[in-house]
Amino acid sequence: MKKGLFIVLEGPDRSGKSTQAALLKTSLEGFGHEVMVTREPGGTCLSEKIRRILLDAKSRIEPMTELFLYETSRIQHTLEKIIPALKIGKIIISDRYTLSTTAYQGYGRGLPLKTVEMLNRIATLGLKPDLTVIMDIPDKVFARRERLMQGRDRIEREPDLFRKRVNRAYKLLAGRPCMTRINAGRPVEAIQKDIRTRVERILRKAGKCKDKK
Ligand code: TMP
Repeated sequence: MKKGLFIVLEGPDRSGKSTQAALLKTSLEGFGHEVMVTREPGGTCLSEKIRRILLDAKSRIEPMTELFLYETSRIQHTLEKIIPALKIGKIIISDRYTLSTTAYQGYGRGLPLKTVEMLNRIATLGLKPDLTVIMDIPDKVFARRERLMQGRDRIEREPDLFRKRVNRAYKLLAGRPCMTRINAGRPVEAIQKDIRTRVERILRKAGKCKDKK
């Protein structure tokens, strides 16, 4: 049923995912691919509304409510946007997907991992990314960014300890199948080059390699 390719960029806040997603889109379009960039939470009208609630620094949200809101946003996004685009052969690049919930709500908030994984499965209808690229921030760079970080949204305002747990979770989770870790503490172009190499590998495997236009 699935004809396209589903690529997810993951990592702690301010790890440069959005910049890399935009660069990857331009590069893949240069090879004639049809590409759609999207994000979580968000990506559809309803999911963007949920995003505003989730990130509003004034929202008071219980951890379990937060988990369900992220998953609610996800099921709408998956059904309304991701699956239809995959069916017509597009390459989807999503800024975050299920691994964020495992890292933030599971490891960050300390909610039971079994519950998080079960809800992830339900919200995605079992859809799994073909490749998840984890933007890995070296500890030294992370510590420097922590000092400079001025929380703007509700999650960014969480204490350092929460963000440290999330960062550690990403390092821990990077060994799962179809995941790859990129050193994100380097210049933007070097990171992009590595991402492109790994994406080309899965394009080749899927028989979707094209010559530059
Ligand atoms: P971002 O799109 O700017 O990265 O912001 C989304 C925020 O939401 C970010 O702090 C990570 C957080 N988040 C979760 O806590 N759980 C999730 O499942 C997702 C997708 C994001």
